[in-house]
Amino acid sequence: MAPHDTALFEGAFWTDPYPAYEAQRAGSPVRQVQQPDGPVWMMFDHADVRAALTDPRLSKDWRYTLPADAREGQPATPIPMMILMDPPEHTRLRKLVSRAFTVRRMEELRPRVAEFANRLIDDLPASGPVDLMSSYAFLLPVFVICELLGVPAEDRDDFAAWSNVMVDESTQDESMAAAGKLHGYLSTLIDAKRENPDDALISGLIAVADDGDVLSQEELVAMAMLLLIAGHETTVNLIGNGVLALLTHPEQRALLAERPDLIASAVEEFLRWDSPVHSAPVRFAAEDVEYSGVTIPAGSVVSLSLASANRDDKRLPDAAELRIDRDASGHTAFGHGLHHCLGAQLARIEAQEAIGLLLTRRPELALAVDPAELVHRRSTLIRGLRTLPVEPGAPA
Ligand code: HEM
Repeated sequence: MAPHDTALFEGAFWTDPYPAYEAQRAGSPVRQVQQPDGPVWMMFDHADVRAALTDPRLSKDWRYTLPADAREGQPATPIPMMILMDPPEHTRLRKLVSRAFTVRRMEELRPRVAEFANRLIDDLPASGPVDLMSSYAFLLPVFVICELLGVPAEDRDDFAAWSNVMVDESTQDESMAAAGKLHGYLSTLIDAKRENPDDALISGLIAVADDGDVLSQEELVAMAMLLLIAGHETTVNLIGNGVLALLTHPEQRALLAERPDLIASAVEEFLRWDSPVHSAPVRFAAEDVEYSGVTIPAGSVVSLSLASANRDDKRLPDAAELRIDRDASGHTAFGHGLHHCLGAQLARIEAQEAIGLLLTRRPELALAVDPAELVHRRSTLIRGLRTLPVEPGAPA
């Protein structure tokens, strides 16, 4: 094993994976890596990751991992989620949902997002320590996604708990049980919305039609689950990682306080500098593919390190430095190509409001522990803090 092998997915990697990524980019930007779930081919360079995200030979169809004669009769996906599909199935679902998921609907949510954020900030005590993840970063995206989908406020806690179990470090059984409960809940909710439609997204999805095509009940449930999980677990960590970035970079925080108009640029930089989705959901090689002179054999599981790509100096000078006033566009934090994040605009709105309002209204906000004591989640997909203990400080 190469000397830097041990640095990936174990030990200090979970706290600070960036030295390991840098070593990969300098040494072997495409290589097989032992991940907790088994061997995976990973790519670390920006140019490779961006090209791979649009490479049709890197499929979402897991059946490529099976010998050709064993694929027959195997289901393509356990549940019809478009993030797990290739065209033409993906194209059909994406087109239908895009009709309901409009930019206008997202921007209309901005005042509600700000209202939710303000309410949560009102509830923070002046002195702590307070865990900002559970009392702020986690709650805001739940409120927003429930509002967007049309989930009644009284069901939010259950909804959030199931989603959390599904993506957190739970056992397979716990995760399956939570998915089953969420599935049952959403089926019932969709039935209720058919009877009594409202202005929210689930009713919008029930109503979408394209040349006579509509979403089936199973597709509606899968879409609602995807929106909940993809929209919630990621945004929580954009808020957490972004606040932490400012608390540990006082000069950047001072710049934002002086120039609040930089908030949109700052959020783009947080997405790039500490990407909440560290690696894109895996792809499967439909045939042999070559990247950076390395052949990845057909049937391999392929993981694209979005976080490493976003720190690649070959694309962006001084990529390791956090600069909220730089042009961070071209980052891969929301993916690229066919599966580019459907909720990117909503995520940006949430983070801009959440981080902007928090720092304006609690100007004395400070870390309550030494940064070295912070603990990150041990997920190969998601990069985020387990807790973020802070002293909120007096309201401005
Ligand atoms: C897809 C990241 C927020 C819904 C993706 C992908 C990434 C991503 C990297 C591409 C996956 C792939 O290529 O396999 C993020 C990040 C977010 C965020 C970093 C927040 C900071 C959201 C929100 C929603 C959402 C708020 C919805 C409310 C989706 C959906 C897809 C997706 C539906 C699948 C698109 C498709 O397969 O065509 N996201 N996301 N995401 N995201 Fe997001």
